[in-house]
Amino acid sequence: MKDLTPNKSDLDPIETASIDEIRGLQLERLKWSLRHAYDNVPMYRERFDAAGVHPDDLKSLSDLAKFPFTTKTDLRDNYPFGLFAVPRDRIIRVHASSGTTGKPTVVGYTQSDIDTWANLVARSMRASGTRPGDIVHVAYGYGLFTGGLGAHYGAENLGCTVVPISGGMTERQVTLIQDFKPGTIMVTPSYMLNILEEFQRQGIDPRDCSLDVGIFGAEPWTNAMRGEVEQAFDMHAVDIYGLSEVMGPGVANECVETKDGLHIWEDHFFPEIINPETGEVVEDGEMGELVFTTLTKEGLPMIRYRTRDLTRLLPGTARSMRRMEKITGRSDDMIILRGVNVFPTQIEEQIMKCAGLAPHFQIELIRKERMDAMIVHAECTPEQAGDAARAASARELAHHIKSVVGISTKIEVHPEGGVERSQGKARRVVDNRPKE
Ligand code: DLL
Repeated sequence: MKDLTPNKSDLDPIETASIDEIRGLQLERLKWSLRHAYDNVPMYRERFDAAGVHPDDLKSLSDLAKFPFTTKTDLRDNYPFGLFAVPRDRIIRVHASSGTTGKPTVVGYTQSDIDTWANLVARSMRASGTRPGDIVHVAYGYGLFTGGLGAHYGAENLGCTVVPISGGMTERQVTLIQDFKPGTIMVTPSYMLNILEEFQRQGIDPRDCSLDVGIFGAEPWTNAMRGEVEQAFDMHAVDIYGLSEVMGPGVANECVETKDGLHIWEDHFFPEIINPETGEVVEDGEMGELVFTTLTKEGLPMIRYRTRDLTRLLPGTARSMRRMEKITGRSDDMIILRGVNVFPTQIEEQIMKCAGLAPHFQIELIRKERMDAMIVHAECTPEQAGDAARAASARELAHHIKSVVGISTKIEVHPEGGVERSQGKARRVVDNRPKE
């Protein structure tokens, strides 16, 4: 793999500023953001008043803990535009979540918000090793999802040539990678596996292709998966994080030279980690739920937005700003089986240890004799496709899950192609338990 460490002189000065300078900027911006939300969004005014707090009460960053949280339900309750803090005609773009349960959540951006977003995605891409002039293949979905357009504007802002292919039509993805020779691909990690498989199906060695960097996000993925993709493509695999409510992709990103967690772009987002049960802020280094307050957003300021993502904050390394550890999972995806908490990423890690298994999987929840149970649907590699080999892989995986995660599971190892493929975010858990 190439050494793609960016030159320090190419970074934004704030990326290497002192902690004091960053905290000073955050305090100033946080005061503005609280005031902007209070003055322009009725929900924030009512909430702050009910909690007996006022934007003027914020004297230090830790005072933020006095302010109430915002949740996804608040966005739904104010559907579609009720939380916008500027007149509707200053909003130049909306995005929305898919809304599999209930109404979608709608987010809006002013011109300045779009510019900030493009800058931060460009910063994220530079941290990943992408350079101005590179060709960037964007296979995140375009449309209401923030992935495609977020990546697109960032790549243009950095000065790259963008290939806006979006998700799907996997055969054509491989053709265009072969013909256009992009240095960077931006895509969900699960869809990257699909593209990998298509390379193999066409008999092309992915290590020979032009890709030097993959910028993967929008869903949890493990370091074991990183190893697999880096090995298969002879490229760097870097993690990008974000969420629509706070902006979209580019809230935090790993640095290619360290790959040790994601630097949060703290000049625009203030992170806190809370205990999800009590709502108390915990110390840096402790695990909990990630909460964000936007510092510069005009269209849709978010005050203490509960992401439901679980991680911890770590000190800066390659950049001054704090890092968040690679996300273990969302509290929504946590499976509780006979008292043990299980995340799909833990299953992914165990699958990666089994040489006879491909990296595709899905977890099915069922109820058997009034007890919840879990079936892991895995898939064999082409080399280990015989009945005996598949049975051996199933035994091996059950053993790893039992000894590392601590639960007994049924494993079904399917023939090649037997597990649902993702075109974007993978569906890792299918709940087939009877509805109460
Ligand atoms: O997924 C934005 C995005 C697009 C991020 C492309 C990165 C790349 P939403 O659809 O609103 O936005 O989903 C946000 O996805 O709260 C996490 O649970 C999950 N997520 C996003 N990035 C990561 C990541 C986009 N790198 C939700 N690792 C978030 C783990 C991630 N989970």
